[in-house]
Amino acid sequence: MEITNPLEELSADELLAMVDRDRLPRHIAVIMDGNGRWAKERKFPRIRGHRAGIKAVRGCITTCRELGVPYLTLYAFSMENWKRPEREIKGLMKLLKEYLIGEREEMLEKGIRLRAIGRLDYLPEDVRAVLDETRDATAKGTEMTLTLALSYGGRAEIVDAVKSLRVGNLEDIGEEDISEHMYAPDHPDPDLLVRTSGEMRISNFLLWEIAYAEIYVTNVYWPDFDAKHVYAAIVDYQRRERRFGGVTPAVGARG
Ligand code: FPP
Repeated sequence: MEITNPLEELSADELLAMVDRDRLPRHIAVIMDGNGRWAKERKFPRIRGHRAGIKAVRGCITTCRELGVPYLTLYAFSMENWKRPEREIKGLMKLLKEYLIGEREEMLEKGIRLRAIGRLDYLPEDVRAVLDETRDATAKGTEMTLTLALSYGGRAEIVDAVKSLRVGNLEDIGEEDISEHMYAPDHPDPDLLVRTSGEMRISNFLLWEIAYAEIYVTNVYWPDFDAKHVYAAIVDYQRRERRFGGVTPAVGARG
């Protein structure tokens, strides 16, 4: 679907000057879509699209960290992605492992704390081990929390949360009980959800947590998503009036 985002006509510098640093989203969540189409347009194998996607991952993390966005969550592999051809899954797992090993030093240097959400026990053992090592090594990072959604499904997360509830009486269950049993209960809910490649879908991402998130969709394929698009999404977000179901902007609303 073709989306019109007039802000994307502006340059990165112009957009950066428009970002209000006092009202940044606390948590940005991103559905990184379009690696396959990016590769297809260039007659490359799909895995080359994913490799190019890693470059965009690095850029997005750097931009958010430099701005001072404290939480960034990236949808790197969904439960549904297990249905892809084995070759592609293997390629993605290899890239993920390389990424986790290759970026560890930089994450430590830049104070990035890595977390992961999803049914992580479905991941191959070697990937899981590297993930655990990087998570442990970066656990004390204070600049930004980077969360990778891996083997993640929003419905699965809700099912897992409900299963882990320890309540005697179903009548006693409240929203906060479910929230407390999600994969990352200590993270704030996303304020801004970004999706690339022009698709107007949520694709089973953070279903519970995005209840009040503002949504920004851009036409660019994920490998082409750069600092300019991050700024455009934030400026667009800051122009919206968030009422959280009320009639006037909520007190302390962040945009
Ligand atoms: C969607 O593109 C993207 C994915 C399924 C995975 C995203 C993975 C990366 C960006 C690389 C690995 C990430 C990390 C953090 C190491 P698609 O294949 O669905 O594209 P298409 O819809 O055009 O086919």
